Amino acid sequence: MSKSLKDDPLWYKKAVFYEVFSRGFYDSNNDGFGDLNGVTAKLDYLAWLGIDCIWLLPFYGSPMKDGGYDIADFENVDPSYGTEGDLIDLIDKAHSLGIRVISDLVMNHSSDQHPWFLESRSSKDNPKADWYIWRDDDSMYKGARIIFTDAENSNWAWDHVRQQYYWHRFYSHQPDLNYDNQEVKDAMLAAVKKWLDLGLDGFRLDAVPYLFQEENTNCENLPATHDFLKLLRKEIDSRYPNRVLLAEINQWPADLVDYFGNDDECHMCFHFPLMPRMFMAIRREQRLPITEILSLTPDIPNNSQWGLFLRNHDELTLEQVSDEERDYMFSEYAKDSRMKRHMGIARRLAPLVDNSRSIAELLYALLFSLPGSPILYYGDEIMMGDNIYLKDRDSVRTPMQWTPDRNGGFSLANFEQLYLPPLMDSVYGYPAVNVESQFKNPGSFLLWIKKLISVRSNYEVFGTGKIEVLHDDNPSVFAFVRFFENEMNPETQTENDSRIEVGRMEGEDPVSVNKVLCVYNLSRFPQPAELDLSKHKGAKLVELNGRVIFPMVTDGSYRLTLGPHGYYWFEISDQI
Ligand code: GLC
Repeated sequence: MSKSLKDDPLWYKKAVFYEVFSRGFYDSNNDGFGDLNGVTAKLDYLAWLGIDCIWLLPFYGSPMKDGGYDIADFENVDPSYGTEGDLIDLIDKAHSLGIRVISDLVMNHSSDQHPWFLESRSSKDNPKADWYIWRDDDSMYKGARIIFTDAENSNWAWDHVRQQYYWHRFYSHQPDLNYDNQEVKDAMLAAVKKWLDLGLDGFRLDAVPYLFQEENTNCENLPATHDFLKLLRKEIDSRYPNRVLLAEINQWPADLVDYFGNDDECHMCFHFPLMPRMFMAIRREQRLPITEILSLTPDIPNNSQWGLFLRNHDELTLEQVSDEERDYMFSEYAKDSRMKRHMGIARRLAPLVDNSRSIAELLYALLFSLPGSPILYYGDEIMMGDNIYLKDRDSVRTPMQWTPDRNGGFSLANFEQLYLPPLMDSVYGYPAVNVESQFKNPGSFLLWIKKLISVRSNYEVFGTGKIEVLHDDNPSVFAFVRFFENEMNPETQTENDSRIEVGRMEGEDPVSVNKVLCVYNLSRFPQPAELDLSKHKGAKLVELNGRVIFPMVTDGSYRLTLGPHGYYWFEISDQI
Protein backbone atom coordinates (compact mmCIF):
# COMPACT_ATOMS: atom_id res chain seq x y z
CA MET A 1 0.00 0.00 0.00
CA SER A 2 1.47 3.35 -0.94
CA LYS A 3 1.87 6.30 1.39
CA SER A 4 0.73 9.70 0.32
CA LEU A 5 2.95 12.77 0.15
CA LYS A 6 2.26 14.73 3.31
CA ASP A 7 2.21 18.51 3.32
CA ASP A 8 4.89 18.66 5.98
CA PRO A 9 7.69 21.22 5.89
CA LEU A 10 9.75 19.05 8.27
CA TRP A 11 9.30 15.81 6.31
CA TYR A 12 13.07 15.43 5.87
CA LYS A 13 13.58 15.03 9.62
CA LYS A 14 11.50 11.86 9.64
CA ALA A 15 12.53 10.50 6.25
CA VAL A 16 14.65 7.56 5.21
CA PHE A 17 16.65 8.51 2.10
CA TYR A 18 17.92 6.20 -0.63
CA GLU A 19 20.74 7.20 -2.95
CA VAL A 20 20.35 6.05 -6.55
CA PHE A 21 23.08 6.04 -9.16
CA SER A 22 20.70 5.93 -12.13
CA ARG A 23 23.45 4.71 -14.45
CA GLY A 24 23.80 1.59 -12.34
CA PHE A 25 20.23 1.01 -11.17
CA TYR A 26 18.20 -0.40 -14.05
CA ASP A 27 18.59 -0.19 -17.81
CA SER A 28 15.10 0.28 -19.30
CA ASN A 29 16.15 0.36 -22.97
CA ASN A 30 18.88 -2.26 -22.87
CA ASP A 31 21.67 -0.08 -24.16
CA GLY A 32 23.96 -1.01 -21.28
CA PHE A 33 23.42 2.19 -19.26
CA GLY A 34 20.91 2.57 -16.46
CA ASP A 35 18.50 5.45 -17.05
CA LEU A 36 15.70 7.52 -15.51
CA ASN A 37 13.00 5.24 -16.89
CA GLY A 38 14.88 2.43 -15.19
CA VAL A 39 14.51 4.19 -11.85
CA THR A 40 10.81 4.73 -12.56
CA ALA A 41 10.44 1.02 -13.31
CA LYS A 42 11.84 0.21 -9.89
CA LEU A 43 9.84 2.71 -7.85
CA ASP A 44 7.43 0.03 -6.72
CA TYR A 45 10.40 -1.80 -5.21
CA LEU A 46 11.52 1.35 -3.38
CA ALA A 47 7.99 1.99 -2.12
CA TRP A 48 7.83 -1.62 -0.91
CA LEU A 49 11.14 -1.12 0.89
CA GLY A 50 9.56 1.85 2.68
CA ILE A 51 11.96 4.66 1.86
CA ASP A 52 10.69 8.26 1.76
CA CYS A 53 13.04 10.12 -0.54
CA ILE A 54 15.30 9.24 -3.46
CA TRP A 55 18.51 11.14 -4.06
CA LEU A 56 19.44 10.93 -7.72
CA LEU A 57 23.08 11.40 -8.67
CA PRO A 58 23.61 13.96 -11.47
CA PHE A 59 21.70 13.15 -14.66
CA TYR A 60 22.65 16.36 -16.47
CA GLY A 61 24.54 16.69 -19.75
CA SER A 62 28.07 15.48 -19.09
CA PRO A 63 31.12 13.85 -20.69
CA MET A 64 30.97 11.52 -17.64
CA LYS A 65 34.59 11.75 -16.63
CA ASP A 66 33.57 12.06 -12.98
CA GLY A 67 30.36 10.06 -12.74
CA GLY A 68 28.33 13.00 -14.09
CA TYR A 69 29.71 15.48 -11.52
CA ASP A 70 31.48 17.05 -14.51
CA ILE A 71 28.49 18.91 -15.93
CA ALA A 72 28.46 20.31 -19.45
CA ASP A 73 24.81 21.37 -19.41
CA PHE A 74 23.16 22.36 -16.13
CA GLU A 75 19.66 22.66 -17.59
CA ASN A 76 19.21 19.47 -19.59
CA VAL A 77 19.06 15.74 -19.01
CA ASP A 78 21.93 13.82 -20.58
CA PRO A 79 20.45 11.76 -23.45
CA SER A 80 22.04 8.59 -22.06
CA TYR A 81 19.74 9.02 -19.02
CA GLY A 82 16.61 9.79 -21.05
CA THR A 83 14.59 12.96 -21.50
CA GLU A 84 13.11 15.71 -19.39
CA GLY A 85 9.77 13.97 -19.89
CA ASP A 86 11.25 10.82 -18.35
CA LEU A 87 12.33 12.84 -15.33
CA ILE A 88 8.84 14.31 -14.96
CA ASP A 89 7.36 10.79 -15.15
CA LEU A 90 9.77 9.62 -12.50
CA ILE A 91 8.91 12.48 -10.16
CA ASP A 92 5.16 12.11 -10.74
CA LYS A 93 5.13 8.38 -10.14
CA ALA A 94 7.37 8.71 -7.10
CA HIS A 95 5.06 11.34 -5.64
CA SER A 96 2.03 9.14 -6.26
CA LEU A 97 3.79 6.47 -4.18
CA GLY A 98 4.57 8.92 -1.38
CA ILE A 99 8.25 9.18 -2.32
CA ARG A 100 10.06 12.47 -2.77
CA VAL A 101 12.89 13.01 -5.24
CA ILE A 102 15.96 15.18 -4.82
CA SER A 103 18.95 15.44 -7.08
CA ASP A 104 22.52 16.65 -7.01
CA LEU A 105 23.18 20.32 -7.62
CA VAL A 106 26.82 20.80 -8.57
CA MET A 107 27.42 24.52 -8.22
CA ASN A 108 31.13 24.65 -7.54
CA HIS A 109 32.39 23.67 -10.97
CA SER A 110 31.48 22.59 -14.46
CA SER A 111 33.08 20.29 -16.98
CA ASP A 112 35.80 21.79 -19.14
CA GLN A 113 33.48 20.81 -21.99
CA HIS A 114 30.75 23.19 -20.82
CA PRO A 115 30.06 25.86 -23.46
CA TRP A 116 30.61 28.47 -20.71
CA PHE A 117 34.15 27.25 -20.20
CA LEU A 118 34.82 26.89 -23.92
CA GLU A 119 33.80 30.50 -24.35
CA SER A 120 35.63 31.67 -21.22
CA ARG A 121 38.92 30.12 -22.31
CA SER A 122 38.66 31.44 -25.87
CA SER A 123 40.03 34.91 -25.01
CA LYS A 124 40.59 37.31 -22.14
CA ASP A 125 37.79 39.62 -23.17
CA ASN A 126 34.87 37.43 -24.28
CA PRO A 127 31.49 37.91 -22.51
CA LYS A 128 32.18 34.92 -20.22
CA ALA A 129 35.87 35.71 -19.69
CA ASP A 130 35.23 36.19 -15.98
CA TRP A 131 32.94 33.18 -15.39
CA TYR A 132 35.86 31.07 -14.19
CA ILE A 133 38.91 32.01 -12.10
CA TRP A 134 41.83 32.91 -14.36
CA ARG A 135 45.30 34.12 -13.38
CA ASP A 136 48.60 34.67 -15.13
CA ASP A 137 50.45 32.57 -12.60
CA ASP A 138 49.65 29.86 -10.08
CA SER A 139 50.80 31.66 -6.95
CA MET A 140 47.46 32.58 -5.38
CA TYR A 141 45.45 30.72 -2.74
CA LYS A 142 48.33 28.56 -1.60
CA GLY A 143 46.45 27.90 1.64
CA ALA A 144 43.85 25.76 -0.15
CA ARG A 145 44.46 22.03 0.17
CA ILE A 146 44.32 19.67 -2.79
CA ILE A 147 41.30 17.38 -2.44
CA PHE A 148 42.11 14.61 -4.94
CA THR A 149 45.70 14.28 -3.73
CA ASP A 150 46.30 11.08 -5.68
CA ALA A 151 45.23 12.60 -9.00
CA GLU A 152 46.16 16.29 -8.93
CA ASN A 153 49.22 18.14 -7.71
CA SER A 154 47.89 21.70 -7.92
CA ASN A 155 44.58 23.55 -7.76
CA TRP A 156 45.69 25.51 -10.81
CA ALA A 157 45.84 24.13 -14.37
CA TRP A 158 47.42 25.74 -17.39
CA ASP A 159 45.15 26.45 -20.32
CA HIS A 160 47.06 26.60 -23.57
CA VAL A 161 44.24 28.39 -25.40
CA ARG A 162 43.86 31.37 -23.09
CA GLN A 163 47.47 31.17 -21.99
CA GLN A 164 46.49 31.50 -18.35
CA TYR A 165 45.92 29.27 -15.32
CA TYR A 166 42.42 28.39 -14.12
CA TRP A 167 41.37 27.36 -10.62
CA HIS A 168 39.91 23.90 -9.85
CA ARG A 169 39.34 22.16 -6.50
CA PHE A 170 38.66 18.73 -7.95
CA TYR A 171 39.88 17.19 -11.23
CA SER A 172 41.54 19.62 -13.63
CA HIS A 173 38.76 18.86 -16.12
CA GLN A 174 36.37 20.48 -13.60
CA PRO A 175 37.16 24.24 -13.56
CA ASP A 176 35.61 26.12 -10.61
CA LEU A 177 32.96 28.69 -11.45
CA ASN A 178 33.56 32.25 -10.32
CA TYR A 179 30.88 33.18 -7.78
CA ASP A 180 32.17 36.72 -7.52
CA ASN A 181 30.48 37.16 -10.87
CA GLN A 182 26.78 37.95 -10.53
CA GLU A 183 26.01 36.37 -13.91
CA VAL A 184 27.31 33.02 -12.64
CA LYS A 185 25.07 33.22 -9.59
CA ASP A 186 22.11 34.11 -11.78
CA ALA A 187 22.80 31.25 -14.19
CA MET A 188 22.94 28.75 -11.32
CA LEU A 189 19.77 30.09 -9.72
CA ALA A 190 18.04 29.76 -13.09
CA ALA A 191 19.01 26.08 -13.21
CA VAL A 192 17.75 25.61 -9.65
CA LYS A 193 14.38 27.11 -10.54
CA LYS A 194 14.09 25.06 -13.67
CA TRP A 195 14.41 21.75 -11.80
CA LEU A 196 12.20 22.82 -8.91
CA ASP A 197 9.53 23.90 -11.40
CA LEU A 198 9.61 20.35 -12.78
CA GLY A 199 8.78 19.08 -9.30
CA LEU A 200 12.09 18.09 -7.68
CA ASP A 201 11.83 18.18 -3.90
CA GLY A 202 15.25 19.66 -3.36
CA PHE A 203 18.91 19.13 -3.89
CA ARG A 204 21.96 17.46 -2.50
CA LEU A 205 24.37 20.37 -2.63
CA ASP A 206 27.65 19.07 -3.98
CA ALA A 207 30.96 20.39 -2.63
CA VAL A 208 29.65 23.73 -1.33
CA PRO A 209 32.44 24.75 1.08
CA TYR A 210 34.61 25.77 -1.86
CA LEU A 211 32.37 28.23 -3.72
CA PHE A 212 34.46 31.30 -2.89
CA GLN A 213 38.18 31.99 -2.57
CA GLU A 214 40.07 34.51 -0.46
CA GLU A 215 43.81 35.03 -0.21
CA ASN A 216 45.45 33.99 3.08
CA THR A 217 42.63 31.58 3.97
CA ASN A 218 42.17 27.88 3.21
CA CYS A 219 39.40 28.93 0.79
CA GLU A 220 36.79 26.86 2.62
CA ASN A 221 33.70 27.92 4.61
CA LEU A 222 34.15 31.60 3.80
CA PRO A 223 31.47 34.13 4.86
CA ALA A 224 30.67 34.81 1.19
CA THR A 225 29.84 31.10 0.76
CA HIS A 226 27.39 31.23 3.65
CA ASP A 227 25.84 34.42 2.26
CA PHE A 228 25.29 32.78 -1.11
CA LEU A 229 23.75 29.65 0.44
CA LYS A 230 21.42 31.82 2.52
CA LEU A 231 20.38 33.60 -0.64
CA LEU A 232 19.73 30.27 -2.36
CA ARG A 233 17.62 29.11 0.59
CA LYS A 234 15.64 32.35 0.58
CA GLU A 235 14.93 32.10 -3.13
CA ILE A 236 13.74 28.52 -2.71
CA ASP A 237 11.66 29.18 0.42
CA SER A 238 9.95 32.12 -1.24
CA ARG A 239 8.51 30.06 -4.10
CA TYR A 240 8.82 26.37 -3.38
CA PRO A 241 7.36 24.95 -0.15
CA ASN A 242 8.55 21.71 1.47
CA ARG A 243 11.87 21.47 -0.36
CA VAL A 244 15.15 20.35 1.17
CA LEU A 245 18.80 21.30 0.78
CA LEU A 246 21.08 18.46 1.87
CA ALA A 247 24.66 19.67 1.86
CA GLU A 248 27.87 17.82 1.21
CA ILE A 249 30.25 19.56 3.59
CA ASN A 250 33.20 17.41 4.43
CA GLN A 251 34.31 19.46 7.43
CA TRP A 252 34.85 19.28 11.16
CA PRO A 253 31.62 19.53 13.27
CA ALA A 254 32.23 23.11 14.43
CA ASP A 255 32.49 24.32 10.81
CA LEU A 256 29.76 22.03 9.61
CA VAL A 257 27.06 23.39 11.91
CA ASP A 258 27.54 26.89 10.49
CA TYR A 259 25.91 25.61 7.31
CA PHE A 260 22.57 25.24 9.08
CA GLY A 261 22.70 28.97 9.74
CA ASN A 262 19.83 29.96 11.96
CA ASP A 263 17.56 27.51 10.18
CA ASP A 264 18.03 29.76 7.16
CA GLU A 265 20.80 28.01 5.23
CA CYS A 266 20.90 24.24 4.56
CA HIS A 267 18.16 22.06 6.03
CA MET A 268 20.48 19.08 6.28
CA CYS A 269 24.21 18.36 6.28
CA PHE A 270 25.85 14.97 6.05
CA HIS A 271 27.62 14.14 9.30
CA PHE A 272 31.00 13.40 7.71
CA PRO A 273 33.02 13.14 10.93
CA LEU A 274 30.65 10.56 12.44
CA MET A 275 30.74 8.16 9.50
CA PRO A 276 34.33 6.83 9.72
CA ARG A 277 34.05 6.73 13.50
CA MET A 278 31.23 4.19 13.35
CA PHE A 279 33.62 1.92 11.44
CA MET A 280 36.39 2.71 13.92
CA ALA A 281 34.17 1.89 16.89
CA ILE A 282 33.25 -1.49 15.41
CA ARG A 283 36.88 -2.46 14.80
CA ARG A 284 38.04 -1.22 18.20
CA GLU A 285 34.96 -2.75 19.82
CA GLN A 286 34.58 0.45 21.85
CA ARG A 287 32.06 3.27 21.85
CA LEU A 288 34.66 6.01 22.36
CA PRO A 289 35.13 7.12 18.73
CA ILE A 290 31.36 7.68 18.45
CA THR A 291 30.76 9.27 21.84
CA GLU A 292 33.74 11.56 21.37
CA ILE A 293 32.50 12.94 18.06
CA LEU A 294 28.95 13.28 19.39
CA SER A 295 30.26 15.34 22.29
CA LEU A 296 32.16 17.56 19.85
CA THR A 297 29.06 18.07 17.72
CA PRO A 298 27.29 21.31 18.68
CA ASP A 299 23.51 21.43 18.94
CA ILE A 300 21.82 22.35 15.70
CA PRO A 301 18.80 24.61 15.13
CA ASN A 302 15.35 23.07 15.67
CA ASN A 303 14.40 22.55 12.05
CA SER A 304 17.82 21.35 10.94
CA GLN A 305 18.80 17.73 10.59
CA TRP A 306 21.89 15.59 10.15
CA GLY A 307 22.16 13.28 7.17
CA LEU A 308 23.62 10.00 8.42
CA PHE A 309 25.27 7.51 6.11
CA LEU A 310 27.52 4.51 6.17
CA ARG A 311 28.48 4.36 2.51
CA ASN A 312 27.79 6.30 -0.64
CA HIS A 313 29.02 6.61 -4.24
CA ASP A 314 32.37 8.03 -3.06
CA GLU A 315 35.23 6.61 -1.07
CA LEU A 316 34.88 6.21 2.70
CA THR A 317 36.50 9.57 3.19
CA LEU A 318 39.11 9.96 5.90
CA GLU A 319 39.48 13.71 5.67
CA GLN A 320 37.92 14.33 9.08
CA VAL A 321 40.12 12.05 11.17
CA SER A 322 43.62 12.50 12.65
CA ASP A 323 46.68 11.14 10.82
CA GLU A 324 46.92 8.35 13.37
CA GLU A 325 43.25 7.42 12.97
CA ARG A 326 43.65 7.44 9.19
CA ASP A 327 46.58 5.04 9.41
CA TYR A 328 44.48 2.83 11.65
CA MET A 329 41.54 2.87 9.22
CA PHE A 330 43.76 2.08 6.25
CA SER A 331 45.46 -0.75 8.10
CA GLU A 332 42.13 -2.23 9.19
CA TYR A 333 39.93 -1.60 6.17
CA ALA A 334 42.26 -1.25 3.15
CA LYS A 335 44.63 -4.15 3.43
CA ASP A 336 45.07 -4.13 -0.36
CA SER A 337 46.39 -0.76 -1.59
CA ARG A 338 43.93 -0.87 -4.52
CA MET A 339 41.17 -0.21 -2.00
CA LYS A 340 42.56 3.27 -1.32
CA ARG A 341 41.16 6.11 -3.43
CA HIS A 342 41.80 9.80 -2.90
CA MET A 343 41.91 10.25 0.87
CA GLY A 344 39.80 7.24 1.68
CA ILE A 345 38.69 3.70 0.96
CA ALA A 346 36.50 2.93 -2.05
CA ARG A 347 34.66 -0.10 -0.74
CA ARG A 348 31.05 -1.01 -0.12
CA LEU A 349 29.61 -1.75 3.28
CA ALA A 350 29.45 -5.56 3.05
CA PRO A 351 33.12 -6.11 2.14
CA LEU A 352 34.17 -3.48 4.71
CA VAL A 353 32.58 -5.58 7.44
CA ASP A 354 33.88 -8.87 5.97
CA ASN A 355 30.34 -9.70 4.92
CA SER A 356 29.31 -10.03 8.55
CA ARG A 357 25.55 -9.87 8.82
CA SER A 358 25.62 -9.12 12.54
CA ILE A 359 28.01 -6.16 12.11
CA ALA A 360 25.98 -4.82 9.20
CA GLU A 361 22.81 -5.04 11.30
CA LEU A 362 24.50 -3.30 14.20
CA LEU A 363 25.78 -0.48 11.99
CA TYR A 364 22.38 0.05 10.38
CA ALA A 365 20.64 0.01 13.75
CA LEU A 366 23.05 2.73 14.89
CA LEU A 367 22.48 4.68 11.69
CA PHE A 368 18.73 4.51 12.15
CA SER A 369 18.72 5.56 15.79
CA LEU A 370 21.35 8.30 16.15
CA PRO A 371 20.10 11.89 15.67
CA GLY A 372 19.61 12.46 11.95
CA SER A 373 17.94 10.94 8.91
CA PRO A 374 19.52 7.78 7.49
CA ILE A 375 20.63 7.68 3.86
CA LEU A 376 21.03 4.25 2.26
CA TYR A 377 23.20 3.57 -0.77
CA TYR A 378 21.67 1.47 -3.55
CA GLY A 379 22.66 -2.18 -3.29
CA ASP A 380 23.71 -1.99 0.35
CA GLU A 381 20.24 -3.24 1.31
CA ILE A 382 21.18 -6.62 -0.19
CA MET A 383 24.82 -6.42 0.99
CA MET A 384 26.25 -6.03 -2.49
CA GLY A 385 30.01 -6.19 -2.90
CA ASP A 386 32.50 -4.05 -4.82
CA ASN A 387 35.17 -4.48 -7.48
CA ILE A 388 38.47 -2.94 -6.41
CA TYR A 389 40.00 -3.61 -9.83
CA LEU A 390 37.86 -0.89 -11.42
CA LYS A 391 39.24 2.62 -11.60
CA ASP A 392 38.51 5.51 -9.24
CA ARG A 393 35.19 5.04 -7.42
CA ASP A 394 33.70 2.78 -10.09
CA SER A 395 34.58 0.05 -7.60
CA VAL A 396 31.38 0.89 -5.70
CA ARG A 397 29.19 1.81 -8.68
CA THR A 398 28.64 -1.57 -10.35
CA PRO A 399 25.17 -2.57 -11.63
CA MET A 400 22.41 -3.21 -9.12
CA GLN A 401 21.81 -6.93 -8.72
CA TRP A 402 18.12 -7.60 -9.22
CA THR A 403 17.99 -11.28 -10.18
CA PRO A 404 20.26 -14.30 -10.69
CA ASP A 405 19.71 -13.96 -14.47
CA ARG A 406 21.87 -12.42 -17.18
CA ASN A 407 23.68 -9.25 -16.06
CA GLY A 408 21.99 -9.61 -12.68
CA GLY A 409 18.68 -8.47 -14.20
CA PHE A 410 20.14 -4.98 -14.64
CA SER A 411 20.07 -5.00 -18.44
CA LEU A 412 19.42 -7.27 -21.39
CA ALA A 413 22.27 -5.68 -23.35
CA ASN A 414 25.29 -7.77 -24.23
CA PHE A 415 27.62 -8.06 -21.29
CA GLU A 416 30.33 -6.20 -23.28
CA GLN A 417 28.02 -3.22 -23.70
CA LEU A 418 27.41 -2.61 -20.00
CA TYR A 419 28.76 0.64 -18.51
CA LEU A 420 30.59 -1.51 -15.93
CA PRO A 421 30.72 -5.28 -15.42
CA PRO A 422 28.33 -6.61 -12.78
CA LEU A 423 29.83 -8.59 -9.91
CA MET A 424 30.04 -12.28 -10.70
CA ASP A 425 32.24 -13.74 -7.97
CA SER A 426 31.00 -16.56 -5.81
CA VAL A 427 30.47 -14.48 -2.63
CA TYR A 428 29.06 -11.14 -3.83
CA GLY A 429 28.19 -11.91 -7.46
CA TYR A 430 24.63 -11.57 -8.73
CA PRO A 431 23.92 -15.31 -8.76
CA ALA A 432 24.47 -15.28 -4.97
CA VAL A 433 23.35 -11.76 -3.99
CA ASN A 434 20.26 -10.27 -5.63
CA VAL A 435 16.91 -8.70 -4.79
CA GLU A 436 14.76 -11.51 -6.18
CA SER A 437 16.34 -14.22 -4.04
CA GLN A 438 16.32 -12.08 -0.91
CA PHE A 439 12.72 -11.12 -1.52
CA LYS A 440 11.81 -14.82 -1.36
CA ASN A 441 14.02 -15.57 1.62
CA PRO A 442 12.32 -14.67 4.91
CA GLY A 443 15.67 -14.54 6.71
CA SER A 444 17.35 -12.26 4.18
CA PHE A 445 19.13 -8.99 4.91
CA LEU A 446 16.74 -7.23 2.55
CA LEU A 447 13.69 -8.24 4.59
CA TRP A 448 15.53 -7.38 7.80
CA ILE A 449 16.27 -3.88 6.60
CA LYS A 450 12.73 -3.40 5.31
CA LYS A 451 11.52 -4.18 8.83
CA LEU A 452 14.08 -1.78 10.32
CA ILE A 453 12.82 0.99 8.04
CA SER A 454 9.23 0.35 9.06
CA VAL A 455 10.04 0.32 12.79
CA ARG A 456 11.97 3.56 12.52
CA SER A 457 9.22 5.18 10.46
CA ASN A 458 6.68 4.35 13.16
CA TYR A 459 8.58 6.18 15.90
CA GLU A 460 8.96 9.83 15.15
CA VAL A 461 11.24 10.28 18.14
CA PHE A 462 14.10 8.76 16.11
CA GLY A 463 13.78 11.60 13.62
CA THR A 464 13.00 14.55 15.81
CA GLY A 465 13.90 13.63 19.39
CA LYS A 466 16.92 14.72 21.38
CA ILE A 467 19.65 12.34 22.55
CA GLU A 468 21.07 11.63 25.97
CA VAL A 469 24.08 9.30 25.97
CA LEU A 470 24.15 7.00 29.03
CA HIS A 471 27.34 6.07 30.78
CA ASP A 472 28.23 2.40 31.21
CA ASP A 473 31.43 1.14 32.81
CA ASN A 474 31.70 -1.40 30.02
CA PRO A 475 33.44 0.47 27.12
CA SER A 476 31.99 -1.91 24.52
CA VAL A 477 28.44 -0.92 25.43
CA PHE A 478 26.93 2.15 23.82
CA ALA A 479 23.55 3.25 25.12
CA PHE A 480 21.43 6.34 24.71
CA VAL A 481 17.90 7.60 25.11
CA ARG A 482 16.09 9.45 22.31
CA PHE A 483 13.35 11.60 23.74
CA PHE A 484 11.08 14.52 23.16
CA GLU A 485 12.43 17.39 25.20
CA ASN A 486 9.45 17.85 27.50
CA GLU A 487 9.70 14.23 28.64
CA MET A 488 13.13 14.52 30.24
CA ASN A 489 12.89 18.16 31.34
CA PRO A 490 9.31 18.97 32.28
CA GLU A 491 10.22 22.60 32.88
CA THR A 492 11.15 23.09 29.21
CA GLN A 493 7.80 21.85 27.90
CA THR A 494 6.31 24.04 25.18
CA GLU A 495 2.98 23.93 23.42
CA ASN A 496 4.65 23.21 20.11
CA ASP A 497 6.55 20.12 21.13
CA SER A 498 5.85 17.52 18.53
CA ARG A 499 4.13 14.36 19.68
CA ILE A 500 2.84 11.61 17.56
CA GLU A 501 0.32 8.89 17.94
CA VAL A 502 1.82 5.90 16.21
CA GLY A 503 -0.03 2.85 15.02
CA ARG A 504 1.87 -0.16 16.35
CA MET A 505 0.89 -3.81 16.04
CA GLU A 506 -2.13 -4.29 13.85
CA GLY A 507 -5.31 -3.92 15.88
CA GLU A 508 -3.55 -2.14 18.74
CA ASP A 509 -4.57 1.34 19.70
CA PRO A 510 -2.06 4.01 18.81
CA VAL A 511 0.08 4.96 21.77
CA SER A 512 2.33 7.98 21.90
CA VAL A 513 5.97 7.06 22.24
CA ASN A 514 8.18 9.76 23.62
CA LYS A 515 11.24 7.94 24.83
CA VAL A 516 13.28 5.18 23.24
CA LEU A 517 16.28 3.46 24.81
CA CYS A 518 18.92 2.10 22.41
CA VAL A 519 21.64 -0.25 23.65
CA TYR A 520 24.46 -1.65 21.50
CA ASN A 521 27.20 -4.17 22.02
CA LEU A 522 30.09 -3.11 19.79
CA SER A 523 32.11 -6.24 20.50
CA ARG A 524 32.12 -9.68 18.96
CA PHE A 525 31.64 -11.30 22.38
CA PRO A 526 28.60 -11.25 24.67
CA GLN A 527 28.68 -8.28 27.04
CA PRO A 528 26.88 -7.24 30.24
CA ALA A 529 25.44 -3.75 30.46
CA GLU A 530 24.47 -1.87 33.61
CA LEU A 531 22.63 1.31 32.73
CA ASP A 532 21.74 4.20 34.94
CA LEU A 533 18.01 4.56 34.30
CA SER A 534 17.23 6.40 37.53
CA LYS A 535 15.34 9.07 35.57
CA HIS A 536 12.94 6.36 34.40
CA LYS A 537 12.20 4.54 37.65
CA GLY A 538 8.91 2.69 37.48
CA ALA A 539 8.86 2.56 33.68
CA LYS A 540 8.60 -0.67 31.73
CA LEU A 541 10.73 -1.38 28.71
CA VAL A 542 9.04 -2.73 25.60
CA GLU A 543 11.31 -4.07 22.86
CA LEU A 544 10.34 -2.38 19.60
CA ASN A 545 10.68 -5.25 17.11
CA GLY A 546 8.72 -7.92 18.92
CA ARG A 547 6.89 -5.76 21.51
CA VAL A 548 8.20 -8.05 24.24
CA ILE A 549 7.91 -6.54 27.69
CA PHE A 550 11.14 -6.50 29.71
CA PRO A 551 11.42 -6.18 33.50
CA MET A 552 10.38 -2.88 34.99
CA VAL A 553 13.00 -0.30 35.94
CA THR A 554 12.85 -0.70 39.72
CA ASP A 555 15.92 1.05 41.02
CA GLY A 556 18.38 3.27 39.13
CA SER A 557 20.59 0.61 37.68
CA TYR A 558 19.24 -1.66 34.96
CA ARG A 559 21.10 -4.80 33.88
CA LEU A 560 21.01 -6.35 30.45
CA THR A 561 23.02 -8.96 28.60
CA LEU A 562 23.79 -8.43 24.95
CA GLY A 563 24.87 -11.09 22.48
CA PRO A 564 27.83 -10.53 20.12
CA HIS A 565 27.16 -7.31 18.15
CA GLY A 566 23.69 -7.39 19.66
CA TYR A 567 21.41 -4.47 20.19
CA TYR A 568 18.04 -3.52 21.68
CA TRP A 569 15.61 -0.75 20.94
CA PHE A 570 13.12 -0.27 23.79
CA GLU A 571 10.19 1.99 24.22
CA ILE A 572 10.41 3.47 27.72
CA SER A 573 6.80 3.29 28.74
CA ASP A 574 5.50 5.00 31.81
CA GLN A 575 2.15 3.22 31.49
CA ILE A 576 2.28 0.27 33.82
C1 GLC B 1 31.50 15.41 -4.77
C2 GLC B 1 30.97 14.11 -5.31
C3 GLC B 1 32.09 13.33 -5.96
C4 GLC B 1 32.73 14.18 -7.03
C5 GLC B 1 33.16 15.53 -6.47
C6 GLC B 1 33.59 16.47 -7.55
O1 GLC B 1 32.37 15.21 -3.72
O2 GLC B 1 30.36 13.37 -4.29
O3 GLC B 1 31.63 12.12 -6.49
O4 GLC B 1 33.83 13.51 -7.58
O5 GLC B 1 32.10 16.15 -5.79
O6 GLC B 1 32.50 16.87 -8.32
